[in-house]
Amino acid sequence: MATQLTPVLSRTWDVERSWTLETYERHDGYSALRTALTRSPEDLVQLVKDSGLRGRGGAGFPTGMKWGFLPKPDGGPRYLVVNADESEPGTCKDVPLMMASPHLLIEGAIITSYAIGCHHAFIYLRGEVVHVYRRLMHAVEEAYAKGYLGRNVLGSGFDLDITVHAGAGAYICGEETALLDSLEGRRGQPRLKPPFPAVAGLYARPTVVNNVESVASVPSIVAHGADWFSSMGTEKSTGFGLFSLSGHVTHPGQYEAPLGVTLRELLDMAGGVRDGHRLKFWTPGGSSTPIFTEEHLDVPLDFEGVAGAGSMLGTRALQIFDETTCVVRAVLRWTEFYAHESCGKCTPCREGTFWMKQVLRRLEAGQGTEQDLDNLLDQCDNILGRAFCALGDGATSPVTSSIQHFREEYLRHLPGPGNPHGGCPFDPVAATVFAGADA
Ligand SMILES: Cc1cc2nc3c(=O)[nH]c(=O)nc-3n(C[C@H](O)[C@H](O)[C@H](O)COP(=O)(O)O)c2cc1C
Ligand code: SF4
Repeated sequence: MATQLTPVLSRTWDVERSWTLETYERHDGYSALRTALTRSPEDLVQLVKDSGLRGRGGAGFPTGMKWGFLPKPDGGPRYLVVNADESEPGTCKDVPLMMASPHLLIEGAIITSYAIGCHHAFIYLRGEVVHVYRRLMHAVEEAYAKGYLGRNVLGSGFDLDITVHAGAGAYICGEETALLDSLEGRRGQPRLKPPFPAVAGLYARPTVVNNVESVASVPSIVAHGADWFSSMGTEKSTGFGLFSLSGHVTHPGQYEAPLGVTLRELLDMAGGVRDGHRLKFWTPGGSSTPIFTEEHLDVPLDFEGVAGAGSMLGTRALQIFDETTCVVRAVLRWTEFYAHESCGKCTPCREGTFWMKQVLRRLEAGQGTEQDLDNLLDQCDNILGRAFCALGDGATSPVTSSIQHFREEYLRHLPGPGNPHGGCPFDPVAATVFAGADA
């Protein structure tokens, strides 16, 4: 049987004024918090461990285990920081979630804070999304007014404040330690690890950093149980997630489905690749994950399945490109993004992304040589595993995977038969020549 959608996080997105407290409460909102407050924090940590929930921010680290890493309380503060920076090209799940259902995130943040013994949580939001900032601020105000936040939450004796913080708009501030530096008022650059945030995070105190979707999944686990959650998805990648289909697809948008669903199934639900066209390449988890092609349509989209096929599940940002897209141009655009967003702290990424951009520009303009492909692979080799944080590694993914799958297309950008001046075979003038060569 084909996989079905599992609307849990997105359950009320279509309801009128879904973002208000009144609507949220009408759909059982904050009832999981009431249940959670009757249980011990240790129980809740165990529940999330048992559910198998893995971080939805990209790396897939088990959430309950992360909470369990915090040292024993010593009387000092400990923090929850919700990572709402969402800036990866293609990734567009947390912003719609916060727009449509801000109280789901707030309820998840309260339960998580209670479980880890935190009395001041932060939501670090990408600065550009001012409309989301306003909506979150309003939802937090509503939650204070109703006694879900502040002193003595719902008469439980538990106190919690939530601060919504808007960053200044830098992709690197989504990296958890750069985020913490930024939140402390410094320039956002990654910290050396260890110590990990669980030991010395915000203001050098024990801190849990979790993605919006991870935190928003917690109320449903409290409400329905660990077995319910792990009955969905696959053995090591349990539960459901938001799959964001964008690009050349008939009905782009968020499709909430069990982990392990395939792109073929998702495309069926989304009306397929736009009419009259066929799939050429796609990203399984955003621009930092190696691209896939038509031959990967049946790869199970869970952490293991995607890794086994040579990529990463990342943030389930499925960017779909049809045969009209020039892969070199797409990779150039992504590389320009990485070169722009590189924080400059380490040489391999700062210099490497700059040089990859130069070489790709040259190739795209038809001024490259075959040797440039080896230059690009060499540059990737000098970044991968040598950069200070995962931004550098991620910048190499589109380059190496596109050369692996589309070497021939790169070569077609060089001057040669059918393309005497070199350059993009997909531009309107040269497209007919390219179509002939393709046949
Ligand atoms: C360059 C870069 C950008 C990142 N951006 C985000 C982001 O916007 N949101 C996010 O949750 N995680 C992001 N991450 C991953 C975080 O460092 C971290 O793994 C995540 O917030 C942990 O949450 P989780 O365990 O709930 O997935 C980014 C990592 C890197 C290297
Ligand atoms: S890899 Fe790039 S973003 Fe990360 S620390 Fe180095 S220069 Fe900064």
